[in-house]
Amino acid sequence: MPVLSQDIAQSWITRWDQQQEGYLPGREERFTALVDAVEAGAGRGDPLVIDLGCGPGSLAVRLLERLPEATVVAVDTDPVLLALGRAGYGARHGLVFADLDLRVPGWTERLGLPRPADVAVSTTALHWLPEEHLRRVYAELGGVLRPGGLFLNGDHLDVDDATPVLAGLERAVHDAATRRRFSAGKPEDWRQWWDGIAADPALADLGAERDRRTAAADHHGSESAGLSTHVTALRDAGFAEIGTLWQQGNNRLLCAVRP
Ligand SMILES: C[S@@+](CC[C@H](N)C(=O)[O-])C[C@H]1O[C@@H](n2cnc3c(N)ncnc32)[C@H](O)[C@@H]1O
Repeated sequence: MPVLSQDIAQSWITRWDQQQEGYLPGREERFTALVDAVEAGAGRGDPLVIDLGCGPGSLAVRLLERLPEATVVAVDTDPVLLALGRAGYGARHGLVFADLDLRVPGWTERLGLPRPADVAVSTTALHWLPEEHLRRVYAELGGVLRPGGLFLNGDHLDVDDATPVLAGLERAVHDAATRRRFSAGKPEDWRQWWDGIAADPALADLGAERDRRTAAADHHGSESAGLSTHVTALRDAGFAEIGTLWQQGNNRLLCAVRP
């Protein structure tokens, strides 16, 4: 059985970043804005950061490039993405991957944090969670963030329930940016990337474990895509000062402050 080397993992992560960018042309700009906010708001040069739904660690490593004294605890439940992150970036100082399902209560306790976190971050991940799980995730998160700590969530979040005309325009702006950016052709999509993974013998065992977990997950797609769903859940979890820091169409960076 071929092993998952650092080179193989990094080439899959490069392809991951390219296919993710195909869905959000402002992905790097949003990462940059998010890291800007962490740098400005974490309150120390060595913040403790939790990354929810980290995938192979794309955001975590960008954070550590800017803030090399930070510790990033990167949480995901996908065994393939976690393995790619560990093999590709595992030796990176300050980076810890945690194999946890955010839908299972008690995930914050299982993180074993040495102190309350300064910041929690997430990109393109929390819309996956059904609303009842999202509300529990935010409630637990509030318990491990220090007073004044930040939550920063980059995702496509829609406003159809409150301002439907704006919602349509936001999607139109996003789609136009996507067309301009990829006028010469789009990168491979999510399905093609996963088909490639399935064909790589170095990832065969992990792919089987992923299939097992996915079958048990009963996942239905974009369940919490509404901005108001997140804002209400954050407010009910005790967060204050909830607002958008950066935006390109419906792709936005939502920030909430723990009082
Ligand atoms: C589109 S990917 C984004 C990954 C990464 N944050 C990025 O920006 O490249 C969504 C991630 O959320 C993770 N995820 C979805 N549901 C989850 C759950 N219940 N617990 C932990 N991670 C979850 C997936 O495994 C996947 O890695």
